[in-house]
Order: sequence, then structure tokens, then C-alpha cells
Amino acid sequence: MKRIIVTCLLLWPFWASAELGAPPLESPGNDVYDTESLRRGAKLYVERCLGCHSLKHMRYRRLQQDLGFSEEEIKQLFPQLERIVGTMTTAMDPKDAERWFGVAAPDLSERARALGTDWIYTYLRTFYVDEARPFGVNNWVFKDVAMPHVFGDLQGEQKAVTQDTGGMPVIVRLEQSKPGKLPPLEFDRTVADLVNFLDYAAEPAQLERRSLGKWVLLFLLIFGFVSYKLKKAYWKDIH
Ligand code: HEC
Repeated sequence: MKRIIVTCLLLWPFWASAELGAPPLESPGNDVYDTESLRRGAKLYVERCLGCHSLKHMRYRRLQQDLGFSEEEIKQLFPQLERIVGTMTTAMDPKDAERWFGVAAPDLSERARALGTDWIYTYLRTFYVDEARPFGVNNWVFKDVAMPHVFGDLQGEQKAVTQDTGGMPVIVRLEQSKPGKLPPLEFDRTVADLVNFLDYAAEPAQLERRSLGKWVLLFLLIFGFVSYKLKKAYWKDIH
């Protein structure tokens, strides 16, 4: 009996994810130490997300330092700022957001941690045409979402292919119905850069840990070498 229960528990995640109609989450395969990707992701975020979603824990100066933006580049990125101080807030008033979308766009500082990078990566790529929705799109992982398809120009349009299961149509896959400006693979890479940036923004300190780690390793190597030399020197006369 115990064994059956354990097996059920172990298999549960597979059953849950194989639920009919739920999209398989895909991994962006991102790397927060890839600075070029983070820089591209940051630019995309500012261009396409910051208008609605703040990143209230991300300081402009920290962003500049971590991603190596020059003074010129950071000014170009945030032309509306008189001085580069404070954190990445949005210009949108939450009250306006509620009036326009029915809900306020949440701050995304910690959402990459909470939702997971796979979820966000899949979410941003699974908007599909649904005329019944206010923005003409729905989303496969976030049903009836109140966010427009902000990558519509790059990705193009997708339509849902459904299967009838006892009177209830469920989505089995999405099919491209109109091409976007980017070929699908390139679009996926673009979204992966953005998700990479959100992963970094959720915990900027992870970059420091890595660089600290390098010094620790270097110290251990030198220390090991010195101890070895010392040992040889001490034992020289004994042998
Ligand atoms: C025009 C405003 C707008 C823009 C631009 C926008 N979003 Fe959204 N987003 C929303 C709103 C509103 C919601 C809340 C949807 C809901 O709850 O139905 C949302 C929800 C989300 C969620 C789900 C959050 C959660 O906690 O469940 C994520 C993730 C997200 N957006 C990411 C992004 C990213 C990344 C971009 C840029 C590529 C972006 N959004 C651009 C308005 C926007």
C-alpha cells in the first residue's frame, strides 16, 4: 500500500502536466551570466513591458553597472529620466490600468521567481487569436488574460487547433496563421533574452555570487599550491 502511495506521489507531476488542454511548458534555456543576452533583454523590457509593468526592486544604477551600459547608453534607454536615480517604475497610473484592462499590471520584480522562467517563456509565446476577447487575443497558459499580445508584430498571429472531448473543445496546439517580422526561431530567442533579463532582475545578487565564487576558487588554488610547496620544503630533510 505504502509503495502504491509513493508511486502515485512520484507520478503526480507527470499526470498534472499531461492534463488535457494544458500547454507543455517549454524552457528558454537562458543563462543569467550571458551579459549580451541580458542587455538585449533589458532593452526589450524597456521598449515593450515597462510601460505597464514596473520592476520596483531594480535600480537604474545597478542595471547600468551589472550589464555594463555606458552613461550614454543608459540615457538612451531611459530618455524620460532627468537624472538616473531610483528604481524602474512605470509611468502608468494603477487606476488607469484598472480602467483600461480591468486589472492592474503586476510588478514583475519577483514574478520570474514565483511563476518560473518556463512559465513566462511559454506564456509570452502562446497568445492566439480569439475575437471574443477585448484585445482580440487569448492565451494558452493564462486563460482570458487581460494583457494584449505585445509581440504581435514580431511573432505574427497564431490560431488554436482544438479537439472535441465530449462536447468540450480543448486546445491541442497553436498554429501560425500569419507570419510576423521575425522567423519563429529568432522570435523564440528574442523572448528567451527577455526572460533571461527577468530571471536576473528577480535576483540581481546572483551575478555577484558567481564573481565571488571565482575569487574563492582562485584563492583555494593558490592556497593549495603554497601548502604543497611548504609540505615539500618541510619534509625535504626528513626523507
Ligand atoms: C499594455 C499593458 C501591458 C504591457 C505592455 C505588458 N503587459 Fe504584461 N500584463 C498586463 C496586465 C494588465 C496583466 C494582468 C493580466 C490579468 O491578470 O489578467 C499582465 C500580466 C502579465 C504577466 C502575468 C503576471 C502574473 O503575476 O500572473 C506576465 C508574466 C507579464 N504580464 C509579462 C509581461 C512582459 C514580459 C511584457 C513585455 C514583453 C508585458 N507583460 C507587457 C499588461 C501589460
